[in-house]
Amino acid sequence: MNNCSIANCENSSDKTRLRIAIQKSGRLTEDTEKLFRNSGIKFAESHDHLLAHAENLPIDILRVRDDDIPGLIMDHVVDWGVVGQNVLEETMMQRKLDGLNIGYTEVMPLNYGDCRLSVAVPSENDWHGLSDLEGKKIATTYPFLLRRVLKERGISFKPVLLTGSVEVAPRAGLADAICDLVCTGATLQSNGLKEVETIYRSKAVLICRDQELYPEKKAIADLLVQRFKGIMAASESKYIMMNAPRAKLEAIRSILPGAENPSIIELEGDHERVALHVVSREKVFWETLEQLKSLGATSILVVPIEKMLD
Ligand code: PRP
Ligand code: ZN
Repeated sequence: MNNCSIANCENSSDKTRLRIAIQKSGRLTEDTEKLFRNSGIKFAESHDHLLAHAENLPIDILRVRDDDIPGLIMDHVVDWGVVGQNVLEETMMQRKLDGLNIGYTEVMPLNYGDCRLSVAVPSENDWHGLSDLEGKKIATTYPFLLRRVLKERGISFKPVLLTGSVEVAPRAGLADAICDLVCTGATLQSNGLKEVETIYRSKAVLICRDQELYPEKKAIADLLVQRFKGIMAASESKYIMMNAPRAKLEAIRSILPGAENPSIIELEGDHERVALHVVSREKVFWETLEQLKSLGATSILVVPIEKMLD
């Protein structure tokens, strides 16, 4: 697919609808769609269409291969993109060499899409370290990132560039090893490969093209940033409630992780004990609840928070 066909699939003079590129199907798709839905963006479920118009907001979602997203941003075809840092960095190295624009701005890091770029070899192979790769054929979608790391170690290799199904290359006799993204490791395992060395760690980021957005688009972009931040803050936060001895309030507050000022509520007919409600901005572990209990807290409830607006 080339950029022109994407640019032409809607009136490219459209100055009012924020156009966002997301991965069509892959490791970022589900979490990105969930984030968008939780932010109140209503768009068609179907993945068959390249372009989905949000029904309730001036937003168009473009579903493409993740590897195409940085280029779409840098060529100013879309306004926003959700992409892995690995894909972004690889594309920048490639485009720099080709003399193309590599400008973009990071809007915000996202709290999903953690993965690593790793070298993997057939499970039955011995492995002594990266120097085993000297002179070997390595199949990858990320030749620039791989070359950068191996060059530092003085290792030369023969890159076999594949943009999909990299994991089948060793079995198909195309390469001795692969260098590919690993999230759960399921893809490697089901292809008889073992992960032997991680060369890069990546997360999902939201990026914007390096031009000022038209005012209408800027307004919707600002609204979305605030909602995304609210969802991410909420997903890491919990609402904690308990009844506790008034005398132990200080001790209790000191062990609550990332907690803001709690609300203290009188308990009818009980002067020794109070109810305490607090938002904690960190994970709450069982150990913390057990410590609270040992300080005399009872009826301890930890409740998830759906949305948060500071
Ligand atoms: C990456 C990679 C593997 C998969 C690894 O694909 O190429 O196929 O994720 O995930 P796992 O360890 O959980 O099995 P990506 O989402 O980049 O899609 P693409 O290869 O089609 O671009
Ligand atoms: Zn990809």
